[in-house]
Amino acid sequence: MSGAQDRAEVIKAIKKIPLLSTSAAKLLEITSNSDFDMDELIDVVKCDSALTARVLKVVNSAAFGLVNQISSIDRAISYLGTRTIVTVALEETAGPLFEKKLDGYESQRGDLWRHDLRSAIAAREVARRSKGDLPPDMAFTAGLLHDIGKAVLSDFLHGTCQDVLEEIEQHKISNYLQGEQDRLGIDHTEAGYELAQLWQLPEALKVSILHHHQPAEAPEEFRPLVFAVHLGDIITMMGGCGTGADSLQYQLDKNYVDYFDLAKDDLYLIMLTVEEEFAKLAQSFSDSKENSG
Ligand SMILES: [Fe+2]
Ligand SMILES: [Fe+2]
Repeated sequence: MSGAQDRAEVIKAIKKIPLLSTSAAKLLEITSNSDFDMDELIDVVKCDSALTARVLKVVNSAAFGLVNQISSIDRAISYLGTRTIVTVALEETAGPLFEKKLDGYESQRGDLWRHDLRSAIAAREVARRSKGDLPPDMAFTAGLLHDIGKAVLSDFLHGTCQDVLEEIEQHKISNYLQGEQDRLGIDHTEAGYELAQLWQLPEALKVSILHHHQPAEAPEEFRPLVFAVHLGDIITMMGGCGTGADSLQYQLDKNYVDYFDLAKDDLYLIMLTVEEEFAKLAQSFSDSKENSG
């Protein structure tokens, strides 16, 4: 098949992906405004009984070690914070997509979710060192979604990893995106963007997905956010947590220094924070699933 035909097949596959739940879509919409109203977020969670139950299970899981159980959803949300609520909602509605085994990248089941969650935490830590006023929780959400296109593209890339890696090593192509483009006429950033369109995600999230490997190409107003995701992604890969064959096969845009105050030590500090926060979140998620049988 030609690249154009493959691209059309990929787009067709994206259109078959289920829509996000109403509450997850609303939470993404609300939290993409830097000055959102917390009461609005609480109302969305309260209107979704399954989500409310899950949030309460997560906050009361052993991982948080609370002496007294929390039974009010308002308190649970203020304890967990916006980012954890968005993570729970996304995992509820699109868990199978995030958990999928990416055979086309020769990665293990759950690698995408682990990489995305770590990238989200790292992007948030980067945003906390922003020279401007980039909201850290927004960087977290964008980080969580940045590689979602791989869940679709993987099915079309079976058996291609070795060839792509060889082409990069021989300098025939400069990064993994080009390997995807050459084979399918589309790469995982564009596939993710198409899915983001289908899901009607806010502009900031769509742009972050599309430009996370070339942040300088993002429209200026979103550039700090996209650079935070770009850096969060690379820090996570440097920490040894990628999504298989493509790990670290992309360029770092060093112009991030224009947007963040980051010394070399900060990168190590961020890596440590990522490991700590990831362990806690992952534990609370699996505890709360075990409890529900
Ligand atoms: Fe990526
Ligand atoms: Fe990534």
